[in-house]
Amino acid sequence: MAILKILTYPDRFLSRPAMPAEHIDETIQTLIGDMAATLYDAPGVGLAAIQVGYGKRVIVYDVSSQDKGRSLQVLINPRIVDMDGEVISENEGCLSVPDFRADVKRASSILVEGLDREGNPLSIEAGGHLALVLQHEIDHLDGTLFIERISSLKREMYKRRMRKRIKNK
Ligand code: NI
Repeated sequence: MAILKILTYPDRFLSRPAMPAEHIDETIQTLIGDMAATLYDAPGVGLAAIQVGYGKRVIVYDVSSQDKGRSLQVLINPRIVDMDGEVISENEGCLSVPDFRADVKRASSILVEGLDREGNPLSIEAGGHLALVLQHEIDHLDGTLFIERISSLKREMYKRRMRKRIKNK
């Protein structure tokens, strides 16, 4: 398993919608293994294929608490088919948006359909933290970063900071 480079804002690839994975083949399995290694190395709770430069609709995540050991979850071609309620996701962050956190308004519970690692249909009813993680990762597959969901004032602050940082490099 390889640790892959995580693309960061303002890399344009991050704003490109990903394509459905049509074949759950060896290439996808290798990608999933590498994404898992990358996720745990970062460390993070979720990672979308697009963040490592692969434009397919694949996400990996692990919301288990550290003392209970790892529990990697894989979701291929996920779709949110139902959502309910409203909640503020406090201090949301992203491996592709370094050194920035913000509150994001999200649905409090969702129903997600997709495929598991073997290509079997999967349906997940999620609330709490998992609902927030899944919404964040599925956003990535549509080319949406969480900074697109915050106030334009806060977003501009972040963008200005990144522009300055790039200039100073
Ligand atoms: Ni993210």
